[in-house]
Amino acid sequence: MTALLSVTSLHRQFGGLTAVRDLSFDVAEGEILGVIGPNGAGKTTAINLVSGVIPPTSGRVEFRGEDVTGLPPHRLVGRGIVRTFQSTTVYGDRTVRENGMRGAYLGLYPGFFATLFDTAHARRMRAEATAVVDELLDWLGLTEVAEDKAGSLPYGHQKTLGMIIALASRPRLIMLDEPVAGLGGGDADHVRDTIKRVRGRGITVIVIDHNMRFMSGLCDRVLVMHQGARLAVGTPQQVLADPAVIEAYLGKRHAALAGH
Ligand SMILES: Nc1ncnc2c1ncn2[C@@H]1O[C@H](COP(=O)(O)OP(=O)(O)O)[C@@H](O)[C@H]1O
Ligand SMILES: [Mg+2]
Repeated sequence: MTALLSVTSLHRQFGGLTAVRDLSFDVAEGEILGVIGPNGAGKTTAINLVSGVIPPTSGRVEFRGEDVTGLPPHRLVGRGIVRTFQSTTVYGDRTVRENGMRGAYLGLYPGFFATLFDTAHARRMRAEATAVVDELLDWLGLTEVAEDKAGSLPYGHQKTLGMIIALASRPRLIMLDEPVAGLGGGDADHVRDTIKRVRGRGITVIVIDHNMRFMSGLCDRVLVMHQGARLAVGTPQQVLADPAVIEAYLGKRHAALAGH
Protein backbone atom coordinates (compact mmCIF):
# COMPACT_ATOMS: atom_id res chain seq x y z
CA MET A 1 0.00 0.00 0.00
CA THR A 2 1.30 3.46 -0.89
CA ALA A 3 1.30 6.03 1.86
CA LEU A 4 -0.68 9.23 1.36
CA LEU A 5 2.08 11.19 3.10
CA SER A 6 5.65 10.05 3.40
CA VAL A 7 8.21 12.01 5.40
CA THR A 8 11.86 11.01 5.12
CA SER A 9 14.78 12.20 7.25
CA LEU A 10 13.33 15.62 7.87
CA HIS A 11 15.66 18.09 9.61
CA ARG A 12 15.12 21.65 10.73
CA GLN A 13 17.69 23.85 12.42
CA PHE A 14 17.03 27.21 14.05
CA GLY A 15 20.53 28.60 14.37
CA GLY A 16 22.33 26.16 16.62
CA LEU A 17 19.15 24.41 17.71
CA THR A 18 17.87 21.29 15.96
CA ALA A 19 14.09 21.46 16.31
CA VAL A 20 13.40 18.42 14.13
CA ARG A 21 15.97 15.68 13.71
CA ASP A 22 16.01 12.84 11.18
CA LEU A 23 12.24 12.48 11.32
CA SER A 24 10.64 9.80 9.14
CA PHE A 25 7.05 8.57 9.15
CA ASP A 26 4.23 7.59 6.81
CA VAL A 27 0.52 8.27 7.00
CA ALA A 28 -1.94 5.98 5.25
CA GLU A 29 -5.02 7.30 3.50
CA GLY A 30 -7.95 7.53 5.93
CA GLU A 31 -5.78 7.21 9.01
CA ILE A 32 -5.80 9.37 12.15
CA LEU A 33 -2.17 9.76 13.21
CA GLY A 34 -1.45 11.42 16.54
CA VAL A 35 1.78 13.31 17.19
CA ILE A 36 2.57 13.44 20.87
CA GLY A 37 5.46 14.64 22.98
CA PRO A 38 6.33 17.18 25.65
CA ASN A 39 6.57 20.92 24.99
CA GLY A 40 9.50 21.70 22.73
CA ALA A 41 9.61 18.16 21.28
CA GLY A 42 9.31 19.56 17.74
CA LYS A 43 5.67 18.67 17.02
CA THR A 44 4.61 22.07 15.71
CA THR A 45 7.81 22.45 13.73
CA ALA A 46 7.21 19.04 12.15
CA ILE A 47 3.80 20.04 10.84
CA ASN A 48 5.09 23.47 9.86
CA LEU A 49 7.55 21.64 7.64
CA VAL A 50 4.92 19.34 6.15
CA SER A 51 2.47 22.22 5.56
CA GLY A 52 5.12 24.47 4.00
CA VAL A 53 5.00 27.18 6.67
CA ILE A 54 8.78 26.83 6.92
CA PRO A 55 11.16 24.89 4.65
CA PRO A 56 13.16 21.97 5.99
CA THR A 57 16.92 22.24 6.33
CA SER A 58 17.03 18.83 4.67
CA GLY A 59 14.84 15.81 4.09
CA ARG A 60 11.91 14.99 1.87
CA VAL A 61 8.11 15.22 1.99
CA GLU A 62 6.07 13.18 -0.50
CA PHE A 63 2.34 13.50 -0.90
CA ARG A 64 0.44 11.08 -3.13
CA GLY A 65 3.75 9.90 -4.50
CA GLU A 66 4.96 13.37 -5.50
CA ASP A 67 7.81 15.36 -4.02
CA VAL A 68 6.26 18.43 -2.34
CA THR A 69 9.24 19.37 -0.16
CA GLY A 70 9.47 23.11 0.44
CA LEU A 71 6.32 24.09 -1.47
CA PRO A 72 4.58 27.13 0.07
CA PRO A 73 1.33 26.61 2.00
CA HIS A 74 -1.09 27.77 -0.73
CA ARG A 75 0.48 25.37 -3.23
CA LEU A 76 0.15 22.55 -0.71
CA VAL A 77 -3.46 23.47 0.01
CA GLY A 78 -4.04 23.23 -3.72
CA ARG A 79 -2.73 19.68 -3.56
CA GLY A 80 -4.88 18.81 -0.58
CA ILE A 81 -2.74 19.47 2.52
CA VAL A 82 -4.09 21.95 5.05
CA ARG A 83 -3.44 22.68 8.70
CA THR A 84 -4.91 24.60 11.59
CA PHE A 85 -2.87 26.54 14.11
CA GLN A 86 -2.42 26.10 17.83
CA SER A 87 -4.15 29.41 18.51
CA THR A 88 -7.46 30.23 16.86
CA THR A 89 -6.99 31.99 13.56
CA VAL A 90 -10.44 33.39 12.89
CA TYR A 91 -10.95 37.03 11.93
CA GLY A 92 -13.05 38.19 14.85
CA ASP A 93 -14.61 41.18 13.10
CA ARG A 94 -15.76 39.11 10.09
CA THR A 95 -18.82 36.89 10.09
CA VAL A 96 -18.61 33.17 10.58
CA ARG A 97 -19.52 32.56 6.93
CA GLU A 98 -16.94 35.09 5.67
CA ASN A 99 -14.28 33.27 7.67
CA GLY A 100 -15.34 30.00 6.07
CA MET A 101 -15.18 31.58 2.61
CA ARG A 102 -11.58 32.55 3.31
CA GLY A 103 -10.85 28.84 3.73
CA ALA A 104 -12.57 27.98 0.47
CA TYR A 105 -10.13 30.25 -1.38
CA LEU A 106 -7.02 29.16 0.53
CA GLY A 107 -5.71 26.91 -2.20
CA LEU A 108 -5.96 29.54 -4.92
CA TYR A 109 -3.10 31.82 -5.84
CA PRO A 110 -2.51 34.77 -3.50
CA GLY A 111 -4.59 37.74 -4.50
CA PHE A 112 -7.30 35.67 -6.12
CA PHE A 113 -9.81 36.83 -3.53
CA ALA A 114 -9.17 40.44 -4.58
CA THR A 115 -9.84 39.60 -8.23
CA LEU A 116 -13.31 38.25 -7.52
CA PHE A 117 -15.23 40.92 -9.41
CA ASP A 118 -17.98 39.93 -11.72
CA THR A 119 -16.67 37.54 -14.32
CA ALA A 120 -18.82 34.50 -14.90
CA HIS A 121 -15.95 32.31 -13.75
CA ALA A 122 -15.54 34.18 -10.48
CA ARG A 123 -19.28 34.09 -9.86
CA ARG A 124 -19.33 30.35 -10.39
CA MET A 125 -16.43 29.86 -8.03
CA ARG A 126 -18.07 32.04 -5.44
CA ALA A 127 -21.33 30.07 -5.67
CA GLU A 128 -19.41 26.83 -5.37
CA ALA A 129 -17.43 28.09 -2.38
CA THR A 130 -20.61 29.31 -0.68
CA ALA A 131 -22.20 25.89 -1.14
CA VAL A 132 -19.14 24.16 0.36
CA VAL A 133 -19.03 26.53 3.34
CA ASP A 134 -22.77 26.37 4.00
CA GLU A 135 -22.67 22.59 3.94
CA LEU A 136 -19.80 22.61 6.47
CA LEU A 137 -21.54 25.15 8.71
CA ASP A 138 -24.60 22.91 8.72
CA TRP A 139 -22.56 19.75 9.22
CA LEU A 140 -20.73 21.16 12.24
CA GLY A 141 -23.73 23.01 13.69
CA LEU A 142 -22.82 26.65 13.05
CA THR A 143 -25.55 27.61 10.57
CA GLU A 144 -27.48 29.56 13.18
CA VAL A 145 -24.49 31.81 13.87
CA ALA A 146 -23.34 32.12 10.22
CA GLU A 147 -24.03 35.87 10.16
CA ASP A 148 -22.57 36.55 13.62
CA LYS A 149 -19.13 38.06 14.03
CA ALA A 150 -16.67 35.24 14.62
CA GLY A 151 -15.21 37.11 17.59
CA SER A 152 -18.54 36.87 19.42
CA LEU A 153 -18.55 33.06 19.39
CA PRO A 154 -17.64 31.02 22.46
CA TYR A 155 -14.08 29.69 22.30
CA GLY A 156 -15.18 26.12 21.49
CA HIS A 157 -17.16 27.35 18.48
CA GLN A 158 -14.18 29.40 17.29
CA LYS A 159 -12.16 26.18 17.31
CA THR A 160 -14.88 24.52 15.23
CA LEU A 161 -14.78 27.47 12.85
CA GLY A 162 -11.01 27.04 12.53
CA MET A 163 -11.72 23.47 11.43
CA ILE A 164 -14.36 24.67 8.95
CA ILE A 165 -11.88 27.15 7.43
CA ALA A 166 -9.46 24.29 6.90
CA LEU A 167 -12.12 21.88 5.59
CA ALA A 168 -13.49 24.48 3.17
CA SER A 169 -10.35 24.09 1.08
CA ARG A 170 -11.46 20.48 0.53
CA PRO A 171 -8.29 18.81 1.81
CA ARG A 172 -7.28 15.17 1.62
CA LEU A 173 -5.03 15.63 4.65
CA ILE A 174 -5.80 17.94 7.55
CA MET A 175 -3.29 18.67 10.29
CA LEU A 176 -4.58 19.95 13.62
CA ASP A 177 -2.19 21.55 16.09
CA GLU A 178 -3.51 21.06 19.63
CA PRO A 179 -7.20 21.31 18.71
CA VAL A 180 -8.32 20.90 22.32
CA ALA A 181 -5.83 23.29 23.93
CA GLY A 182 -7.71 25.53 26.33
CA LEU A 183 -10.95 23.56 26.10
CA GLY A 184 -12.80 21.90 28.98
CA GLY A 185 -13.58 18.19 29.05
CA GLY A 186 -17.00 18.41 27.38
CA ASP A 187 -15.70 20.58 24.54
CA ALA A 188 -12.67 18.31 24.13
CA ASP A 189 -14.97 15.29 23.74
CA HIS A 190 -16.92 17.23 21.13
CA VAL A 191 -13.72 18.01 19.20
CA ARG A 192 -12.71 14.36 19.35
CA ASP A 193 -16.07 13.34 17.88
CA THR A 194 -15.71 16.01 15.21
CA ILE A 195 -12.26 14.72 14.21
CA LYS A 196 -13.70 11.21 13.88
CA ARG A 197 -16.49 12.55 11.70
CA VAL A 198 -13.91 14.38 9.55
CA ARG A 199 -12.12 11.09 9.00
CA GLY A 200 -15.52 9.58 8.23
CA ARG A 201 -15.61 11.89 5.21
CA GLY A 202 -12.49 10.16 3.92
CA ILE A 203 -10.09 12.88 5.08
CA THR A 204 -6.78 11.77 6.57
CA VAL A 205 -5.91 13.45 9.87
CA ILE A 206 -2.69 14.30 11.70
CA VAL A 207 -3.43 15.63 15.17
CA ILE A 208 -1.00 17.05 17.71
CA ASP A 209 -1.66 16.90 21.41
CA HIS A 210 0.26 16.09 24.55
CA ASN A 211 -2.52 14.25 26.37
CA MET A 212 -2.11 10.52 25.88
CA ARG A 213 -5.59 9.75 27.16
CA PHE A 214 -7.18 12.07 24.58
CA MET A 215 -5.01 10.57 21.85
CA SER A 216 -5.67 6.95 22.83
CA GLY A 217 -9.38 7.36 22.26
CA LEU A 218 -8.87 9.00 18.90
CA CYS A 219 -5.83 7.85 16.95
CA ASP A 220 -5.14 4.72 14.91
CA ARG A 221 -1.44 5.23 15.45
CA VAL A 222 0.66 7.62 17.49
CA LEU A 223 4.06 9.11 16.65
CA VAL A 224 5.94 9.98 19.82
CA MET A 225 8.48 12.79 19.48
CA HIS A 226 11.23 13.59 21.91
CA GLN A 227 13.88 16.29 21.46
CA GLY A 228 13.04 16.68 17.79
CA ALA A 229 13.32 13.00 16.92
CA ARG A 230 10.99 10.07 16.55
CA LEU A 231 11.00 8.04 19.74
CA ALA A 232 8.32 5.52 18.80
CA VAL A 233 5.44 4.97 16.43
CA GLY A 234 2.60 2.47 16.67
CA THR A 235 -0.88 1.94 17.99
CA PRO A 236 -1.66 3.76 21.25
CA GLN A 237 -1.37 0.40 23.05
CA GLN A 238 2.02 -0.29 21.49
CA VAL A 239 3.55 3.08 22.34
CA LEU A 240 2.07 3.06 25.84
CA ALA A 241 3.84 -0.24 26.46
CA ASP A 242 7.16 0.99 25.00
CA PRO A 243 9.69 1.38 27.82
CA ALA A 244 11.48 4.23 26.01
CA VAL A 245 8.20 6.15 25.80
CA ILE A 246 7.31 5.49 29.41
CA GLU A 247 10.69 6.69 30.59
CA ALA A 248 11.15 9.72 28.33
CA TYR A 249 7.67 11.03 27.90
CA LEU A 250 5.34 9.75 30.55
CA GLY A 251 7.97 9.99 33.26
CA LYS A 252 9.04 7.89 36.13
CA ARG A 253 5.79 8.39 38.04
CA HIS A 254 3.80 6.76 35.24
CA ALA A 255 6.43 4.05 34.88
CA ALA A 256 5.94 3.25 38.56
CA LEU A 257 2.16 3.23 38.18
CA ALA A 258 2.41 0.97 35.16
CA GLY A 259 4.58 -1.40 37.15
CA HIS A 260 7.75 -0.93 35.08
N1 LIG B 1 10.82 29.95 14.70
C1 LIG B 1 11.64 29.41 15.60
N2 LIG B 1 12.85 29.97 15.87
C2 LIG B 1 13.67 29.44 16.79
N3 LIG B 1 13.39 28.33 17.50
C3 LIG B 1 12.21 27.73 17.28
C4 LIG B 1 11.28 28.24 16.34
N4 LIG B 1 10.18 27.42 16.34
C5 LIG B 1 10.42 26.46 17.26
N5 LIG B 1 11.65 26.64 17.82
C6 LIG B 1 12.26 25.75 18.82
O1 LIG B 1 12.21 24.45 18.32
C7 LIG B 1 11.92 23.51 19.36
C8 LIG B 1 10.68 22.74 19.01
O2 LIG B 1 9.56 23.62 19.11
P1 LIG B 1 8.10 23.20 18.68
O3 LIG B 1 8.14 22.57 17.37
O4 LIG B 1 7.25 24.40 18.83
O5 LIG B 1 7.74 22.12 19.79
P2 LIG B 1 6.34 21.54 20.27
O6 LIG B 1 5.29 21.96 19.29
O7 LIG B 1 6.53 20.07 20.33
O8 LIG B 1 6.10 22.12 21.63
C9 LIG B 1 11.80 24.33 20.64
O9 LIG B 1 13.06 24.31 21.29
C10 LIG B 1 11.49 25.71 20.13
O10 LIG B 1 11.94 26.70 21.03
MG1 LIG C 1 3.48 23.08 19.54
